[in-house]
Amino acid sequence: MKANRIYNFNPGPAALPLKVLEEIQENFLNFNGTGMSITEISHRSKDFENVINDAAARTKRMLNLDDNYHVLFVQGGASLQFCMIPMNFLADDKSADYVDTGTWSTKAIKEAQIMGKPVQVVASSADKNYSYIPKSINFNDAAVYVHLTSNNTIKGTQWADFPDTKGIPIVCDMSSDMMSRPLDTSKFGLIYAGAQKNIGPAGVCMVIVRNDMLELVPDNIPTMLKYSTYVSKNSLYNTPPCFAVYVVQLVLKWLEETVGGLEKMEAFNQQKAKRLYDFIDLSNFYRATAAPGSRSLMNVTFRLPDEELEKQFVEEALTSGLGGLKGHRSVGGCRASIYNATTLEAVETLVDFMKTFEKKNG
Ligand SMILES: Cc1ncc(COP(=O)(O)O)c(C=O)c1O
Repeated sequence: MKANRIYNFNPGPAALPLKVLEEIQENFLNFNGTGMSITEISHRSKDFENVINDAAARTKRMLNLDDNYHVLFVQGGASLQFCMIPMNFLADDKSADYVDTGTWSTKAIKEAQIMGKPVQVVASSADKNYSYIPKSINFNDAAVYVHLTSNNTIKGTQWADFPDTKGIPIVCDMSSDMMSRPLDTSKFGLIYAGAQKNIGPAGVCMVIVRNDMLELVPDNIPTMLKYSTYVSKNSLYNTPPCFAVYVVQLVLKWLEETVGGLEKMEAFNQQKAKRLYDFIDLSNFYRATAAPGSRSLMNVTFRLPDEELEKQFVEEALTSGLGGLKGHRSVGGCRASIYNATTLEAVETLVDFMKTFEKKNG
């Protein structure tokens, strides 16, 4: 580990690859020989156009997306997508299916309902505190899309495989597992991800949209809230968050060239998560909260015997150089977010700390 840096298990904004941070630092005052910082150049310049085009091209290559798909960069976070999706795709006489797997999908449902859009919640894991991913779901044939949250950052669950929606396009919030594994993208009409967990800093949301979905976009919604605006203007209708897009480009370059693509990324993510879950499952002190089969490879949620010990655990971990282990305030407990950039060394150090803590307090 580099001096003065901690092992960062934050849920988001989260750890970025050290190589990327160093590259930003090295080029910060003089980007690409322009004599200006990336934060100072015009978003209409060739230099920035190369950045945004390269980020989109790398995304398309790694996900095997053909020209039917567009990679967009939108502000407003994943949360803005909760309302943009129904606004763009759901006419008042049509309906969409939603699966409620906890906090973020619940919010997506709420935003659609605020606008009076007809949504059907076809499955939910609320009955068991969102600790599992629902199976055997009956989707409505007439649904325009099926909305899923691929990884539930707070509850610590993840869809290992996506359901068969019988051709209904899946619209998916992948904020916390975007580019963490290969995907059969043919099932998806739209994918969105706030960048600040797996693919960059806060300030930009990546949206991947398929051509047929664009046909649903009505004329009478504001320009900045229309997917077709971003498609026709290459996400440059107005000034985009240039710095955030640049960091996303560097993270994608790291993923493609240093890691070697999504198969390798997935194998590495599985290895890290297995190390942690195996340790927790063998312990009588720590308890994983997500059901086996539904567990997230990105956010490992766990409890200790009582809340006092959890508080002490988080505090002592930080003193030992391990940060961000507190569970979300809505659920309590502990959570280790181990996104793409988290090293195996970080996970091993965490396991060692957990062993020592258990010995002292178990
Ligand atoms: C799965 C998921 N969706 C949506 C969001 C909200 O993202 P944003 O803060 O970019 O609006 C988060 C943030 O933590 C998330 O984890």
